Amino acid sequence: MFGPRKSIHALHGHGAGHTLAKTLSWPHLIALGVGAIVGTGIYTLTGVGAERAGPAVIIAFAIAGAVCACAALAYAELATMIPAAGSAYTFSYAAMGETIAWVVGWSLVLEYSLACSTVAVGWSGYLVGWIESAGIHLPPAILSGPHAGGIINLPAVLVALGVMGMLIAGTRQSATLNILLVIIKLVALTVFVAIALPHFQTANMEPFAPYGFASTEILGEKRGIMAAAAIVFFAFYGFDAVATSAEEAKEPGRDLTIGIIGSMLVCTLIYMLVAISAVGAMSYLELGNSPEPLALVLRSLNQPFAAHMVALAAVIALPSVILVMMYGQSRIFFVMARDGLLPRRLAKISERSGAPTLITALTGTSVALVAGFFRLDEIAELANAGTLIAFVAVGACLIIMRRREPDAKRLFRCPAAYVVGTLAILGCLYLFFSLPDKTIIRFLMWNAAGLVLYFIYGRRHSILSKPAAV
Ligand code: ALA
Repeated sequence: MFGPRKSIHALHGHGAGHTLAKTLSWPHLIALGVGAIVGTGIYTLTGVGAERAGPAVIIAFAIAGAVCACAALAYAELATMIPAAGSAYTFSYAAMGETIAWVVGWSLVLEYSLACSTVAVGWSGYLVGWIESAGIHLPPAILSGPHAGGIINLPAVLVALGVMGMLIAGTRQSATLNILLVIIKLVALTVFVAIALPHFQTANMEPFAPYGFASTEILGEKRGIMAAAAIVFFAFYGFDAVATSAEEAKEPGRDLTIGIIGSMLVCTLIYMLVAISAVGAMSYLELGNSPEPLALVLRSLNQPFAAHMVALAAVIALPSVILVMMYGQSRIFFVMARDGLLPRRLAKISERSGAPTLITALTGTSVALVAGFFRLDEIAELANAGTLIAFVAVGACLIIMRRREPDAKRLFRCPAAYVVGTLAILGCLYLFFSLPDKTIIRFLMWNAAGLVLYFIYGRRHSILSKPAAV
């Protein structure tokens, strides 16, 4: 009913010109992980989260982090058991069959591409704030999309296209540069906490949870701790981009375990500190509207220079998130095309750079278009919807594979796998249904269109469905 399943033993060897080079080891992967995880979520969506939950956004971060940690553990086991590119898509192909794998892959396309667009818009917010605080004023029409009174968010478009160019030039150079950018990003957050935390005022914490716990509609917008968790969830994912590169890891067992779990722990700790510092130093009511909340907090504390530097760090470093997510996106497309579900010539790897050029160009252009015209929180929520469904599938794959292939080699075994898998599934579903209704509807429309494409093209061209399949 759900189409053919991939054998986990047949997930290697795809012929010359269709195999990725093994160039990455664990320091690259932690950098890749932290590079993908720390970004617009903490730099910008902290403000949106505070608007939706009040100071209790801190709890929202904890909830989203806990759910993500379960998904990360499931990912780590599956990635070391099935070390082939494609992450949740590939796991689902092996555990649940092609049709579900398609839905997961199609949802991942939404996750990665819209996450790139979200970060591009967040980046633009800091860039514009930074330029204006330096006394330079650009025409507003080119600084935001039609929803905010402009015509196009040109900075967001340009950063997306710039990153696309870097990826087309080759993975290796991009991953190395990424390490430097990760350091800049972390130093800036440390400076933020060091300055803002001493200004913590208990008065700013009251009322702590003005809209309660569950996500409820108030004046046309979802509010409550879960509504905030459903958006700040964005800040945590990205570690799956590490699993996506399993095929390129030198020693998948060691490198992926350290890469995924390590980057997750580092980020959770940092977010808690940043969130407490931000809502402790400034009223949540003022944080919500800002396109650059961390810089705003610092300015309000009379620290214009620090605000300037934190904004500069965001401007320099946020593109690293786009880089990793766009890399992940092109690899998902690559694997789907290699499996025959999308036109196979899309998966052609450039001999010069080792990157799938055509797919990267296609991805980069779509990301730039969305970033140019749409609203930050709406794009982020739709990216979250795609990610949450992919994570539900990962939790399910963990459980199914433990039952079906109990003795298969696993370089990393998830502790209490059934509990963790179930928590990942239930937690992600709860977050999914805490999203605004319009986001859920858009997500369903995206997948309905995807399924049409699958039944028209993918199912008929699938390599596994052909008689000579492995
Ligand atoms: N977690 C990434 C970010 O917050 C996607 O930008």
